[in-house]
Amino acid sequence: MYCNFHHWIFVCLCILTSRICIQGNQSNIETNRNDKLSLPGFENLTAGYNKFLRPNFGGEPVQIALTLDIASISSISESNMDYTATIYLRQRWTDQRLVFEGNKSFTLDARLVEFLWVPDTYIVESKKSFLHEVTVGNRLIRLFSNGTVLYALRITTTVTCNMDLSKYPMDTQTCKLQLESWGYDGSDVEFTWLRGNDSVRGLENLRLAQYTVQRYFTLVTKSQQETGNYTRLVLQFELRRNVLYFILETYVPSTFLVILSWVSFWISLDSVPARTCIGVTTVLSMTTLMIGSRTSLPSTNCFIKAIDVYLGICFSFVFGALLEYAVAHYSSSQKMAAKDRGTSKEVEEVNITNIINSSISSFKRKISFATIEISGDNVNYSDLTMKTSDKFKFIFRDKMGRIVDYFTIQNPSNVDRYSKLLFPLVFMLVNVFYWAYYLYF
Ligand SMILES: *[C@@H]1O[C@H](CO)[C@@H](O)[C@H](O)[C@H]1NC(C)=O
Ligand SMILES: *[C@@H]1O[C@H](CO)[C@@H](O)[C@H](O)[C@H]1NC(C)=O
Ligand SMILES: *[C@@H]1O[C@H](CO)[C@@H](O)[C@H](O)[C@H]1NC(C)=O
Ligand SMILES: *[C@@H]1O[C@H](CO)[C@@H](O)[C@H](O)[C@H]1NC(C)=O
Ligand SMILES: *[C@@H]1O[C@H](CO)[C@@H](O)[C@H](O)[C@H]1NC(C)=O
Ligand SMILES: *[C@@H]1O[C@H](CO)[C@@H](O)[C@H](O)[C@H]1NC(C)=O
Repeated sequence: MYCNFHHWIFVCLCILTSRICIQGNQSNIETNRNDKLSLPGFENLTAGYNKFLRPNFGGEPVQIALTLDIASISSISESNMDYTATIYLRQRWTDQRLVFEGNKSFTLDARLVEFLWVPDTYIVESKKSFLHEVTVGNRLIRLFSNGTVLYALRITTTVTCNMDLSKYPMDTQTCKLQLESWGYDGSDVEFTWLRGNDSVRGLENLRLAQYTVQRYFTLVTKSQQETGNYTRLVLQFELRRNVLYFILETYVPSTFLVILSWVSFWISLDSVPARTCIGVTTVLSMTTLMIGSRTSLPSTNCFIKAIDVYLGICFSFVFGALLEYAVAHYSSSQKMAAKDRGTSKEVEEVNITNIINSSISSFKRKISFATIEISGDNVNYSDLTMKTSDKFKFIFRDKMGRIVDYFTIQNPSNVDRYSKLLFPLVFMLVNVFYWAYYLYF
């Protein structure tokens, strides 16, 4: 038996090098002489083996069982919406034409694969794939005595993966690797996963730059196309982005910038350079951070990402702190002016009332002196009508002043006092909502 095995290989190589082919009787299709081959040792069974015809040609569909090993996922690109993976693809099927006696299995290398029928599996939605060719084509065929053929390949492929980046960087992406027969539809070839969910290995051990593989599972679906109905094998895996990098790179600095902008509330209103300096510096730093986060991702996809929302919030707070100083400073200067105006108003008021009082008392005195009560009443009345226009003007001005007072801040240092409390409180509240929304919804 052992000798026999070597004999097979020897004969096999002889046949291949000399390109002797044994013509068979099985095929009705006219084919090139060189494409027909009887494998050494199987002459009786494979006489007329035609690699262009699938096993059980015209009969039952061939069952092809797949297993996958993911060797690496080298890049997951948000800008191109794809990932690049190197996989070991193993396909098993039974070809009754290749049954031989004995218990042995033997392996043919890439150059002998050319002489056998192999499935025309392709990767759905792949943009670019290649078979590794160093030092020879990285594929093999193993033949078992019961006719089972194992066909293994090493492929690097770039596959489309549509990503929803609205929760970036707290996002989880679901990517697929789909396999299907290119030509043979469901009546010719049926794909199955050899061991269900265990058919795929290597995903747990992957070390990816930004992601961890959260879970994966396998599916068998049907794909309906114009050329027929095909069985499609799907490997679906979920990638969760590691948010820690972004927390250190963007979230912590922006939060610290917001806190830094609050320092300004503890500095007195009079130190204009200090407070404007803090305000402007924090605003500028926030802008730089925002630009930095933008350049790490392509701006071509116009999603509002979670990170943009956070940076926007931080920018608003920093900008708000700057505006707060503007308001406080303006109101304090307004207050000073109002103080000046207020004292003058009081003086005026006093003067007017004094004048009125004195005039009334003088009239009364006059009336009492003249003892003409009726005429005195008349005089008083005309006197009043004369003064109502002035009085209305005065009241109007008073009301306006009060309205303005209502909107002007009575005590500018209160602005700072409230801000000291309000800004951190609102910021914390917004943070709670932000993280709750993006982590749990
Ligand atoms: C071809 O096959 C038929 C039966 O299918 C058989 O009668 C005939 O002898 C075969 N011819 C050759 C050349 O093997
Ligand atoms: C092939 O068939 C011939 C006769 O039909 C027989 O003598 C020989 O042992 C067979 N070979 C194998 C490997 O079965
Ligand atoms: C096949 O292998 C089994 C166990 O390895 C052995 O018991 C059996 O005898 C073998 N059969 C043949 C035909 O060599
Ligand atoms: C053929 O043999 C191989 C190896 O012994 C085994 O794994 C496979 O299940 C067998 N296939 C069938 C259809 O019996
Ligand atoms: C594979 O895993 C998925 C999800 O965990 C599950 O729904 C499915 O039933 C599993 N399939 C098999 C064949 O175990
Ligand atoms: C594919 O399947 C659909 C529904 O199952 C059926 O209507 C259609 O005829 C099938 N197409 C072919 C080519 O078998």
